[in-house]
Amino acid sequence: MDKHKESLFETIGGEEVLDKWVEAFYRHVKAHPVIAHLFPDDLSETVRKQKQFLTQFLGGPPLYSTEHGHPMLRRRHLRFPIGNKEASAWLSCMRSAMAEAGLSPENQSIIFDRLSRTAYHMVNQPFDRTIRGVDARDTL
Ligand code: HEM
Repeated sequence: MDKHKESLFETIGGEEVLDKWVEAFYRHVKAHPVIAHLFPDDLSETVRKQKQFLTQFLGGPPLYSTEHGHPMLRRRHLRFPIGNKEASAWLSCMRSAMAEAGLSPENQSIIFDRLSRTAYHMVNQPFDRTIRGVDARDTL
């Protein structure tokens, strides 16, 4: 009996589909008014790392960890101010990119769910700091 259970990485079409997805994702990121400024002009290294990471995130070979060690994603994102607004902008780029890469609606929904939890885990700004121009921290 074949005990091999296909990973999501294989199910969506492996490297070929993931490449299309990640390329589309960063095209959206670069055009997004809320998060584009956080990213470097030259995205080639970012694209490469994201492909490695998503491959392992979806149960494919551990390409990211083999080269960079433990992902520690929250820690690696601390140098960028990420609030709920940035997390949902990031997710909306992912949503469009997955559709463009041709993932089935069912796989999109499973993966989007997992990505959402990871994205909100990345939030490192407690809330919008300003309420009508007043620094909210001064009111607490
Ligand atoms: C929540 C909103 C997020 C924002 C605004 C954001 C932004 C960024 C930025 C600005 C970088 C650095 C790019 C560079 O200098 O090359 C980065 C790197 C990265 N991000 Fe995110 N990110 C977010 C969420 C996520 C999530 C949810 C994941 C994974 C599912 C993720 C995975 C990565 C990876 C793997 C890297 C490369 C880390 C490295 O340098 O080794 N990010 N992100």
